[in-house]
Amino acid sequence: MFESNAASPRLRPRLRRGRRLGLLSLALAGALAGAALNAGAPAEAATVTITNRTQFRDTAGNVLHAHGGGIIKVDSYYYWFGESRNSDYSFRAVTVYRSTDLKNWESRGNALSQGSASELASANIERPKVIYNRSTKQYVMWMHKENGKDYGEARAAVATSSTIEGPYSYRGSFRPLNQHMSRDITAFVDDDGTGYMISAARENYDLHVYKLTADYTNVASLARSWPGDHREAPALFKRNGVYFMVTSGATGWDPNQQKYSTATSITGSWSAWQNVGDSTAFGSQTTFVLPVQGSLTTSYLYLGDRWGPGFGGVYADSQYVWLPLRFPSNTTLAMDSSPQITIDTATGEVTGATSSYSTVVNRNSGKCLDVVNGSSENNAEIIQYACGTAHNQQWNVQEAAAGYVNLQVRHSGKCLDVVSSSTADKAKVIQYACGSGTNQQWQLQDAGNGYLRVVARHSGKCLAVTDASTANSARVVQAVCDGSTAQQWQRKTA
Ligand code: DGJ
Repeated sequence: MFESNAASPRLRPRLRRGRRLGLLSLALAGALAGAALNAGAPAEAATVTITNRTQFRDTAGNVLHAHGGGIIKVDSYYYWFGESRNSDYSFRAVTVYRSTDLKNWESRGNALSQGSASELASANIERPKVIYNRSTKQYVMWMHKENGKDYGEARAAVATSSTIEGPYSYRGSFRPLNQHMSRDITAFVDDDGTGYMISAARENYDLHVYKLTADYTNVASLARSWPGDHREAPALFKRNGVYFMVTSGATGWDPNQQKYSTATSITGSWSAWQNVGDSTAFGSQTTFVLPVQGSLTTSYLYLGDRWGPGFGGVYADSQYVWLPLRFPSNTTLAMDSSPQITIDTATGEVTGATSSYSTVVNRNSGKCLDVVNGSSENNAEIIQYACGTAHNQQWNVQEAAAGYVNLQVRHSGKCLDVVSSSTADKAKVIQYACGSGTNQQWQLQDAGNGYLRVVARHSGKCLAVTDASTANSARVVQAVCDGSTAQQWQRKTA
């Protein structure tokens, strides 16, 4: 038994409650429409676009919950394992999804769930990572295990399966070498087949690399330690004979500066920590680095979590930030902001894409969809205003459900919303924190000549400028669709 002395995740102080200003991009609705995979038949990989700082959806249209996760490639599929939690943040399952292109993810159910073992019925499981043992032909899942109430247990847990999707058999939890606290965790298999587990020890002050036993299900020895550096969220990968350890600082759910260290031997010597990315990893925390090996190249894809509680939401609101890593030299790492990235798993190319925010211009007035006074508040009215370059006129169109999109405004990150889900004619259109309501979901219908009708899902009414006004500050409302040009809009790249 261990004393519980860490705060519950939901009671942890939010260090930065402030709203994160948008890096959200305008994505072409067509590019965002998920193409369902035929079960059992790998789809042809092609270039796909991922929009960062969004929730992803699986091929059935459900929000994809695989947080703190890791990806392993087996035959033609990438398998993504990650956290799914109950609304009280406790463990629900380790989910597993598969994809050939890293965009279209088919849910394959739960690899491990609350019912898998008695100690998982009321628990917390974080950062599951699966590695494959070529000798035993077993898939081995390493996880961080807590009691579901606080972070006092600080244990590592193991589950195994002879098939990639599982279900995995839970093998129990423990403190490595019977002594070390073990929180944020990852696992890594070296070229020579040696397995390693890396986890945060001593209240996250120390980071440990453990060599695993030959079957990967237990810890054999402590191979390396970073005492006192206070790093968590480890991700280890190897490129051209150089090991890169990417980590975050320890600030609860809030993003912070990610740092990396390199070595040519896993036991060291390791370089001093160096910064990678901006001071918040573009609003995210490391969970994994995935080598994407293709016919032309191998790219290294940073997988980050943008935790919901870090931007004023709850855990289930958590989003993803995936970015290509750059290597200015064999031992240095860089990561740039990219609202969208493109991935081609066939060639291995992963590239940052330029921003594609757009203005949304009314056909009748030539004026732009605008959040009044650049307000960041919920309920701020939407008006039309002379087009400019301000971010309160720049919108990111993202798929919200099959055939429907959200329009998220760049300056506030909030969504175009019909007030109080009203279905009334001339009901006000506002900005509001993005959610799953159908009053934030819009259908873009072709109105000809490059113009669109923007139709609210919940009401079937059209986005319109009040009384077909051409004046600055005229209110934007929903109105019965009538085919007029005051109800037609054009997206123009900002
Ligand atoms: C940061 C860790 O990296 C996450 O996995 C999670 O434990 C949160 N802290 C909880 O605050």
